[in-house]
Amino acid sequence: MDYIFDTGSELGTHHLDHLGKLLNRPTAWVLERVGLRLDMRCLELGAGNGSIANWLAGRTHEVVAVDIDTSQLNDVAPGVQVIRHDLRDGLPVQGPFDLIHARLLLVHLPEREQLLGRLVDALAAGGWLVLGDLTDRPLQTLAVPEPADQDLWDKMLHLSHNVVSPARGLSWTWARETAGRMTAAGLVDVDVMEYSQSRRQRRLPAAPKPQ
Ligand SMILES: C[S@@+](CC[C@H](N)C(=O)[O-])C[C@H]1O[C@@H](n2cnc3c(N)ncnc32)[C@H](O)[C@@H]1O
Repeated sequence: MDYIFDTGSELGTHHLDHLGKLLNRPTAWVLERVGLRLDMRCLELGAGNGSIANWLAGRTHEVVAVDIDTSQLNDVAPGVQVIRHDLRDGLPVQGPFDLIHARLLLVHLPEREQLLGRLVDALAAGGWLVLGDLTDRPLQTLAVPEPADQDLWDKMLHLSHNVVSPARGLSWTWARETAGRMTAAGLVDVDVMEYSQSRRQRRLPAAPKPQ
């Protein structure tokens, strides 16, 4: 089953840009807590536009950034090695890695459990696996300009969560299962952080009427 979004498209650029704006701060907070060191070898999976790979590059020894579509990874920091690869086929590089990070990747892959096993095997002794994924917590509106906007939102959410996503292999329960799976795979010091934030939406200017 193929990934639901088109990473290389113009919309893909906006998508990844917004993910970075929303999530890079909490991601950095989590990564800093594992204790980054300048001798660390890091693997960044589903690297997107490389914002986290670049951030790690200034703080660690080596970063390997892997994505099935590397078209948004043209301009990476020195020290980041980019590999185009489908992670459903396993890892394209040999471990061990001191840090493996994957944000919003495993939630999309039906092969997530096999991949988790491979990630655990690729960790160095004392290494860290940091996974970030979407939970099934409902996304609620806090304010809507008009009741019709609420209807539109409900329809969009229904289609996204209940129709399109499951049909494309996305799991809404995986994020809640991850800590248990990590523990079952033999990892220790497993920690969970849940993060949410309100999002401001601006109404787009109305399209010009045809003459
Ligand atoms: C939702 S985006 C997240 C990007 C980035 N991790 C972030 O949080 O900003 C998922 C990323 O995983 C990549 N991806 C999806 N399926 C993949 C696969 N089978 N193998 C490797 N990368 C994949 C996509 O191209 C995309 O860049």
